[in-house]
Amino acid sequence: MLIDTHTHIYAKEFEKDRAAMMQRATEAGIDLMLLPAIDKSTFGAMQELAKNYPNQVKMMIGLHPCSVKDNVQEELALVEAELNNKREKYIAIGEIGIDLFWDKTTLDQQTEAFRTQLRWAKVLKLPVAIHVRNSFDEIFAVLEAEKTENLNGVLHCFTGGKRHVLKARELGFYMGIGGVVTFPGSGIDHVLKRINLDEIILETDAPYLAPVPYKGERNEPAFITKVAEKVAEIKGISVTEVADITSANAKKLFKL
Ligand code: NI
Repeated sequence: MLIDTHTHIYAKEFEKDRAAMMQRATEAGIDLMLLPAIDKSTFGAMQELAKNYPNQVKMMIGLHPCSVKDNVQEELALVEAELNNKREKYIAIGEIGIDLFWDKTTLDQQTEAFRTQLRWAKVLKLPVAIHVRNSFDEIFAVLEAEKTENLNGVLHCFTGGKRHVLKARELGFYMGIGGVVTFPGSGIDHVLKRINLDEIILETDAPYLAPVPYKGERNEPAFITKVAEKVAEIKGISVTEVADITSANAKKLFKL
């Protein structure tokens, strides 16, 4: 079995062939797909998908750092309302974090929204899915300050170096490995040699970051097999072993 732990298959990119895409995922051996939320513009589409595929799809709720704008308080209030009223529908808070690639000017607001959502996660004992882009130091500073026994999660689409692996391990966070590991020259293949299999979970981040040989195309959950194959090659073990161990990790983290 395989679990795609981070996939935005409710996105409009799948409007035309969603049923066929879900079928391909099933045929590729993907039993579960975990949906990270973005903002109020897509909560409805995500909830609709979860209603249509209750056995294959589980939802997270949260405000994405790239959606931290002037209406951040209104957006956070919606997330909080979902957590207060429909807590049982969600397996995690995500995706949350800090993105300094697209917008550095909102760092303070992003940090504040991130911290707020981490605190909700601690109270509710929910894991978190964290988006890190050009922001490892900022993310780790907040995690360090907020660290408690109740706080755990994943650094999704992990592309850090050795130093970041050590920090993630120290905080007890999983590293989410996706299509980037198959990109020539990404360097993640080398870093992965230093990461233990019990520290990673697999993801696609569909529709983004399709693995080789689909690089540049729309990504979808079925392509996670290419990620699993690459991890198996790097670790020198079978694809089945990679699937079994990473799925067990995901089940443990998200209490599936
Ligand atoms: Ni994402």
